[in-house]
Amino acid sequence: MKLMIRYAVDQKYQLYDRNGEKSREMHLEMNLDKIDLDKIDIHAQPPAQEPARQYYFMAKCRRIVQKKEQELGRRLTCHTETFGCQMNARDSEKLAGILEFAGFLEAGSEEADFVIYNTCTVRENANNRVYGRLGYLHNLKKKNPDMRIALCGCMMQEEEVVEKLKKSYRFVNLIFGTHNLYKFAELLAGCYASDRMVVDVWEQSDQIVEDLPVERKYPFKSGVNIMFGCNNFCSYCIVPYVRGREKSREPREIVREVERLAADGVVEVMLLGQNVNSYGKTFDPPVSFASLLREVEKVDGIARIRFMTSHPKDLSDELIAVMAQSKKICRHLHLPLQSGSSRILKAMNRKYDKQSYLRLVEKVREAMPEIAITTDLIVGFPGETEEDFLETMDVVKKVGFDSVFTFIYSKRTGTPAARMECQVPEDEVKSRFDRLLKEVQEIAAQKAQKLTGSLQKVLVESVNDHDASLVTGKMDNNATVHFKGTADMVGRIMDVRLQECRGFYYYGTAANE
Ligand code: SAH
Ligand code: SF4
Ligand code: F3S
Repeated sequence: MKLMIRYAVDQKYQLYDRNGEKSREMHLEMNLDKIDLDKIDIHAQPPAQEPARQYYFMAKCRRIVQKKEQELGRRLTCHTETFGCQMNARDSEKLAGILEFAGFLEAGSEEADFVIYNTCTVRENANNRVYGRLGYLHNLKKKNPDMRIALCGCMMQEEEVVEKLKKSYRFVNLIFGTHNLYKFAELLAGCYASDRMVVDVWEQSDQIVEDLPVERKYPFKSGVNIMFGCNNFCSYCIVPYVRGREKSREPREIVREVERLAADGVVEVMLLGQNVNSYGKTFDPPVSFASLLREVEKVDGIARIRFMTSHPKDLSDELIAVMAQSKKICRHLHLPLQSGSSRILKAMNRKYDKQSYLRLVEKVREAMPEIAITTDLIVGFPGETEEDFLETMDVVKKVGFDSVFTFIYSKRTGTPAARMECQVPEDEVKSRFDRLLKEVQEIAAQKAQKLTGSLQKVLVESVNDHDASLVTGKMDNNATVHFKGTADMVGRIMDVRLQECRGFYYYGTAANE
């Protein structure tokens, strides 16, 4: 890991400048490689400021791990499992970074000494999957009494979930939420110091702690958080309750992270937020998402920029212009529609209607005719009638989405929609869902077909799982391509001629080999 980090000096730390010289500056750039956790005095009081405090606890964890390894005569292993969205995936990379610093070896499966589930609660089935998997973990723990189980993420922000775990899942060792993830090292040390269940869930936090270690899943691409939380309160959605209020990271911190990533071999970044279009609105003076994109674009070495998610209500003309002029921003816009019925959109508190969404799509396509537009749709929102549903089908046909994530409405306790009357009968929802799925798949397949024969830039992501003579990559518009290639191509952007379309993915041939 070659991250450069900066934090306030604590007297008990040995700090080095870039040349490896000892330094007593208050704020300075330092190389994470050179933080010697073994030199931190873990018997002294922990420092109060972050992230220095967490490095102290990483050092403490490292001693705990070393001691256990001596007792057991083998390496201590860990496993991080992620549920939910890209933001959770990025959080898990932070968890994995801390575990690596603490000295654990990633096991690749749940048969490990320390297992952490980073959970999601956006729909009921996300929760059910976690409860189901916990039964399996319990069995593993019976075979390995040294095993520790931790749960974190969005689901843990719900009181009734934590109550249920405390009552019926006593074998879980550590529970924490979304607001104190940066304290994972401290919580991990606490979990190893106690045989009781450690629970630490915060209702909110206004702090953003920078410069903790991150273990990236891919060497060549990375998510970058630009903001946390959500203020939109769409009436069906639990995210604002479990992720808290919107907080934007300072533009210079974001650019600094992107620069470090580029220096570390990353060619594609995905800027992450629940609603990136409202990035920076709380700064004084405000900073627009479009201007942030301009800054990120300047970073040498970054070839592709993606972002997720754009809320249609505040997608600006400035953003469209910046995208259209950019050589790096991918020609892909994920623009969640949720419903095509203006009446339902109002009940959902989405703050746009069918017509304004259609106009927006038109404007985006005028500026970038080749752009891929994808969306999220919910079927069966309370009070949705057949007419409302047909409005959704109408927008689907009019827009011609390149890909759609379709969801069945899931009632989330505490949200306004959960208290609405006229919940739609299950069989009705199922039938609409099937009709919608058929339609979106047909349209997406037709759209995909049109690109057959064209030459595309493809970022190679892996050797194909099923056929090792093929590699698999992503086009600018996020579609998947398989073509003949070798492992050394992974991480490179290549020109590929699309030969055959198989519905949602392509077979192609490298043009520059
Ligand atoms: N911030 C993003 C969405 C994050 S959640 C946005 O506003 O676009 C991802 C998707 O999950 C949402 O777009 C929505 O389609 C779906 N979703 C959220 N809550 C849901 C619920 N209660 N039932 C079904 N789908 C839901
Ligand atoms: Fe949920 Fe709406 Fe926020 Fe997206 S914008 S996370 S759907 S409340
Ligand atoms: Fe799920 Fe939390 Fe993301 S609820 S969708 S993991 S923000």
